[in-house]
Amino acid sequence: MAAQVSTRHAHTMADSTRILDSLSTSVLIVDRHSSLLYLNVAAETLFGVSRNQMRGRPLAELLVDATALNAVIERATETWRPFSRRELTIRPVNADGDLIVDCTVAPFDEPSAPSAVLIEITDATQHQRITRETALLTQIGGSRAMIRQLAHEIKNPLGGLRGAAQLLARQLADASMREYTSVIISEADRLVALVDTLLGPVHSPRKESVNIHELLQHVGHLLAADSQSGVTIERDYDPSLPPLRLDRNQIIQAMLNLGRNALQALEQASPPRGKRIILRTRALTNVNIGARRHRVVASVQFEDNGPGVPEHLRDTLFYPLVTGRADGTGLGLAVAQDLVSRHDGLIEFDSRPGQTIFTILLPLHAANTGQ
Ligand SMILES: Nc1ncnc2c1ncn2[C@@H]1O[C@H](COP(=O)(O)OP(=O)(O)OP(=O)(O)O)[C@@H](O)[C@H]1O
Ligand SMILES: [Mg+2]
Repeated sequence: MAAQVSTRHAHTMADSTRILDSLSTSVLIVDRHSSLLYLNVAAETLFGVSRNQMRGRPLAELLVDATALNAVIERATETWRPFSRRELTIRPVNADGDLIVDCTVAPFDEPSAPSAVLIEITDATQHQRITRETALLTQIGGSRAMIRQLAHEIKNPLGGLRGAAQLLARQLADASMREYTSVIISEADRLVALVDTLLGPVHSPRKESVNIHELLQHVGHLLAADSQSGVTIERDYDPSLPPLRLDRNQIIQAMLNLGRNALQALEQASPPRGKRIILRTRALTNVNIGARRHRVVASVQFEDNGPGVPEHLRDTLFYPLVTGRADGTGLGLAVAQDLVSRHDGLIEFDSRPGQTIFTILLPLHAANTGQ
């Protein structure tokens, strides 16, 4: 009888292990000293370790810095209640880069593991990307409508101002006074040009089949001609990227804006291993841009090792007139985002001191359906 009970117990244990292993959520159990008792397969994958090797090892060995996770565990054990934190940033020792995760810690008291805690970790990176992207897309839509409105308000009185200055110039007997009217006229013209840039190209994209690497080579040459000496431009291309249907000039302009920003960011910088810009392409599969899912998307990245995007600009970076440079107009990114969104694409960025990456995502669908 006793034997029967224990076999049944063994069965249930095996079953629950199998169930835990088919979860996409990472599950870890640690004892009261924070030593690992158990990891499921998802946790092994997330942390890049095997559970046999980690059994009995301290939880802290999995992470570069376990402070954030330990704080969640402490909260749960102090109150002896489950405790959750959303969007926690962790960095596994065996993975490259940070992960953003949602984490729940629950006290777990079993005869086999007294006063233990069970930790559940789910990947929140994708979720965060969608939130940020949605915010971006709303920003673009909102700013475009605002610009149209503003452009009209500015252009109308400017026409009047310019006309009046011309009339005045003709009436002025003293030629030296005409210097002033010509300042009025040229400044009015400069404003009109600025507003026109804000409005972007009037025509919709003229799409043709284009090899994106050929465009990037061209952009690379222009950047090299622009740059002061000492900037290395590297290339890291994915040769499997098929041709895209796009408006060559519009996409060149968008890329040039990103490239010039990278150059300008490097002007005052002195990175330890020299100033570098990397032009990178990749083919990505199953990517969401806004609400649409695309089977294949071309990713074109401009990476630099400059100081990074100033913290206070990050939330509004793609708004027109947002600039961190004394002589900047703050139109480059707004225009680039507009041009790319006309191709159903998106520009996003990731920036920290020493590594800034702007990514243009362009869906490939049109090339395949021959639109
Ligand atoms: N690669 C980068 N590294 C650091 N900061 C950047 C980078 N790219 C853009 N920025 C910041 O974003 C700001 C806005 O860029 P944006 O291209 O929109 O305008 P701008 O370069 O200031 O002016 P414009 O492009 O109209 O001449 C820049 O002024 C700069 O502060
Ligand atoms: Mg710029």
